[in-house]
Amino acid sequence: MLVARSIDHARRAVAEARAAGQQIAFVPTMGALHAGHTSLIDAARDSSACVVVSIYVNPTQFGPNEDFTIYPRTFEADSEAAIRAGTHLLFAPTDSEIYPVNDQTRVHPGPLAEKLCGPYRPGHFEGVCTVVAKLFNIIQPDIAYFGQKDAQQALIIQRMVEDLRMPVRIIVCPTVRDPDGLAMSSRNARLAPKDRAMALSLYKSLCLARDRLIAGENSLGRIIAAMRSTIGEHAEIRVDYLSIVDAATLETPLTPAGRLLIAGAIRIGRTRLIDNLVVDLPTA
Ligand code: PAF
Repeated sequence: MLVARSIDHARRAVAEARAAGQQIAFVPTMGALHAGHTSLIDAARDSSACVVVSIYVNPTQFGPNEDFTIYPRTFEADSEAAIRAGTHLLFAPTDSEIYPVNDQTRVHPGPLAEKLCGPYRPGHFEGVCTVVAKLFNIIQPDIAYFGQKDAQQALIIQRMVEDLRMPVRIIVCPTVRDPDGLAMSSRNARLAPKDRAMALSLYKSLCLARDRLIAGENSLGRIIAAMRSTIGEHAEIRVDYLSIVDAATLETPLTPAGRLLIAGAIRIGRTRLIDNLVVDLPTA
C-alpha cells in the first residue's frame, strides 16, 4: 500500500493506475477505522482494481464546541487495517493540502442539510460537502463509497454530485452493527461500558418504530413518543431528535407510506451518536 501525504503524490499514483486501465474506487474516511469502514473498502475492492482510502479529520465539519480536538486519531492502526482490507493507496493529506493559505471557497448544500442533524450541527454539512468535493477533485474516482449510518450525509453527497455534475458514482453500503445492534462508529471507542448500554437504547427505539410502522400504526406522533420513552429511561442521555421522514426528501410525511427513514441522534456526555433504519411501506 502506498501512502501519499501530498496531492501531487496521490495524483501521480492514481494517474498510473488509470494508465494501466484500472477503475478507481474511493472510500473517504476520518480514520479510527472499524468494521463499518472496512466493509466499504471490501465493496470498493469488489468493484475496482484500484482502491483509494483517505484519512483526514476535516476541521470545517466540526462546530466550535464539538469534538474535533478529541476525535480519535489512530494512524498506525488505521494504516494496518487499510492494508489488511486491500487498500492500494492511502491518502492522508496535511491540513495545508486541503485548505491552502487564504482558502475561502465552500460548497453550500441545499435544504436537505437543514433537516435532521442540520439544526444541531450548523455548518456541518457545508464542511462535509466542501471536503468531499476537494477529495473528489484530487482523487477523481470513478466510484465512491459511503455508509448508510450517515444517511443524511449520503443523501446530501448524492445531491451534490448530481447538482455539480461530478463524474463519480456514489454507492451507499449498509450499516455495520455489533452483534447486539449498536451501529459501528468511530465515536463508540469513547463510550464507557455503562454509556455503551445506554447508547443501545437509540437502536432499540428505531427497532420499536420500525416494528410499529410495519404493524400498521399510523400515528407518527404516537410512535415518536414511544421512541422517546424507550430512550427516556436513561436520564444521562440527551436526545437531539427522533424523526420519521421520507427517505428521499427528509420531509415528514402526512401519513406513513413508501420508503421512510427512521432516524435519531443522541448525546451521552460529549459523545454524539446517530443511527437510522429504513422501512418500506406500501405507497399511499
Ligand atoms: O463520514 C465521514 O467520515 C466524513 O464525514 C467524510 C465523508 C470522510 C468527510 O470528512
